[in-house]
Amino acid sequence: MSGLEINFSFVDEKFHKDPASVMALLRNKCPVHHTAEPASHFTLSLEADITSALRDEKTWSSKYGPGLAYSEPGIGVLVSSDPPEHTQERIAISRIFKASVIEKMEDDIALLTNQLIDKLADKNNGDIIRDLAAPIPLTVMCWLLGTPIEDIELFRSWVLPMAEAVSYADGREASAEVKAAYQSFFEYFGDHIQKRKELIVSNENVHDDLLTRLLTVTHNGRTLSNKKVLGFCQFLLVAGSETTTLMIGNVLHRLMENPKQFEMLKGDHSLIPNAIEESLRYDAPVHGLFRTNTKQVLLHGIDIPVDSKVCMMFGSANRDPEVWDNPDKFDISRDLSALRNHASFGVGAHYCLGAPLSRLEGRIALKSIIERLPKIRSDGDPTPTTAGVLKGFSNLPVRWD
Ligand code: HEM
Repeated sequence: MSGLEINFSFVDEKFHKDPASVMALLRNKCPVHHTAEPASHFTLSLEADITSALRDEKTWSSKYGPGLAYSEPGIGVLVSSDPPEHTQERIAISRIFKASVIEKMEDDIALLTNQLIDKLADKNNGDIIRDLAAPIPLTVMCWLLGTPIEDIELFRSWVLPMAEAVSYADGREASAEVKAAYQSFFEYFGDHIQKRKELIVSNENVHDDLLTRLLTVTHNGRTLSNKKVLGFCQFLLVAGSETTTLMIGNVLHRLMENPKQFEMLKGDHSLIPNAIEESLRYDAPVHGLFRTNTKQVLLHGIDIPVDSKVCMMFGSANRDPEVWDNPDKFDISRDLSALRNHASFGVGAHYCLGAPLSRLEGRIALKSIIERLPKIRSDGDPTPTTAGVLKGFSNLPVRWD
């Protein structure tokens, strides 16, 4: 089970051509894989190993961030922190993401989705990523953060390089494009947050949105620092928009590829949540994210030295035959509650806080597509996303009558 037997890395084209086969090889031949590409790290691919590691935050720390690069500890919120700090931040921030807050957005998201589909009414083809899957979550992000909707194109131009940086050894310093995206983000949001703070202090026309609540939420009598709010907004923009965009594209792609399943769904809309969950299981929008071990770990005979970056491959856990029957079959008739145990939103303390929101966006998008564009079908090969840890498309050509 040496890490030398199989060549896997997020920068390897072979992996992106057929991730499921590479993940199966890893599970079968090399469940603790090591590579030096693009920087030394290990990868866990068995569901049991991933879920038990993610439930043991003492050993598998998030303090150096969820990417391959070692980020500066202590400045990130939630996803880059460990208990007890993480627990306190999570209690404070999860109030903002309560189900009741998310449910209130349902009508607005449905209206937005219908308006986007209205724009397609006179056409018979389009790119579902550009026309629907990207603008829905980005617009919702503008609502949450109180920024003008017109800026969604600008935000997307930062989100893609920022997402790519997760699998780069140098993280934010990886390339001129990545650095420029971060710089533009920090300038824009630094200014935006400052203006919002002034409004809060003067108590004038303060929007009751996520940003205001982030700036005012207290835990043990303390508010979050400016740096943490800025870092959290940056994380949210990437974590909350591109992932949901990929999910919407992925579910439609698989349904178009499996016409019988698509027809079954059109005949029974109650299967929409199953289709979303099965898509999340089958095509995890985030292949995997990293932890750093706080002590030496011996797993399947492989020594993982302390302070190694270790990728938890969610996408592989979702295809592990020890857990899933017929894991390589896309099947929307699987049991919904069993399906929800997929690892695509993470596992344990860092389980995705935005899961209810992205599920809602996905359900609304899919329902609107089925109702308003029932004859939708593929119109050429989609273009895969270029971000190493992400799975999905940057463009998905479709046609309808
Ligand atoms: C299909 C869409 C999404 C996917 C696949 C996804 C995936 C994930 C994953 C895998 C994690 C765990 C990170 C880790 O263990 O290190 C996570 C955490 C998180 N996600 Fe999502 N996410 C999605 C949508 C969203 C949305 C829409 C939001 C918010 C608007 C969001 C906010 C968060 C937050 C705040 C965390 C950190 C939780 C913590 O560390 O306690 N996500 N997400």
